[in-house]
Amino acid sequence: MRIDVVTVFPDYLAALDLSLIGKARQAGLLDLRVHDLREWTTDRHRTVDDTPFGGGAGMVMRPDVWGCAIDAVLDGDPAGHLVIPTPSGEVFTQRHAEALAAEQHLVVACGRYEGIDARVAEHYRAAGRRVSEVSIGDYVLNGGEVAALVLVEAVGRLLPGVVGNPESLVEESHGAAGLLEYPVYTKPPVWDGLEIPEVLLSGHHARIDRWRRDRALERTAQRRPDMVAALDVARLDKHDRAL
Ligand code: ADE
Repeated sequence: MRIDVVTVFPDYLAALDLSLIGKARQAGLLDLRVHDLREWTTDRHRTVDDTPFGGGAGMVMRPDVWGCAIDAVLDGDPAGHLVIPTPSGEVFTQRHAEALAAEQHLVVACGRYEGIDARVAEHYRAAGRRVSEVSIGDYVLNGGEVAALVLVEAVGRLLPGVVGNPESLVEESHGAAGLLEYPVYTKPPVWDGLEIPEVLLSGHHARIDRWRRDRALERTAQRRPDMVAALDVARLDKHDRAL
């Protein structure tokens, strides 16, 4: 997969050289390219923003500069999917990560200030291109760069070969079960007077699976009642329903 990130702060994306995503880039599993938006400015001051029509505080990013940048990194690729992080987007979930991981080419346009002139998304949609405006949560950041880090990591780890053991993607929070993950434990078996749950030492896999499912349900009910409400009741067993 190819991902182009366009930003006025390319250094923000340096963290994508590290860890699993860094390794995936080196292994050629992810072709990630970070670009400085100012490369596409034409004036002496390398201006990317201007005052908002209609008045108000702050500055808005210019559509002409963004249009040149996006066209250049799309590189004529009809498969290129434009992703614009913005607090006014749809809330980004694991479902979005899965859908984006199936794409061949993403272009992530990181806005700053009061955001990118709305005609940019409109222009690319009108041209028949897929455009996703996504928020990473109900809070406001100073720009789209941190959201781009989140997107690239969430999408990148789903690409084949990126996570060493694909089994570890199966039982995660926000996975197919629609539950948060159960609590996990490792050595030592007693720490600070705290013991691990006895059942995990039993070697009895069916009991361990049941215990984990109960804890996942319990935790989801406490922390994310919205996720419990969205569960498909037909897929719950008798024991689940009793909880
Ligand atoms: N830019 C600023 N805040 C954001 C958010 N919550 N999600 C995505 N992009 C943003």
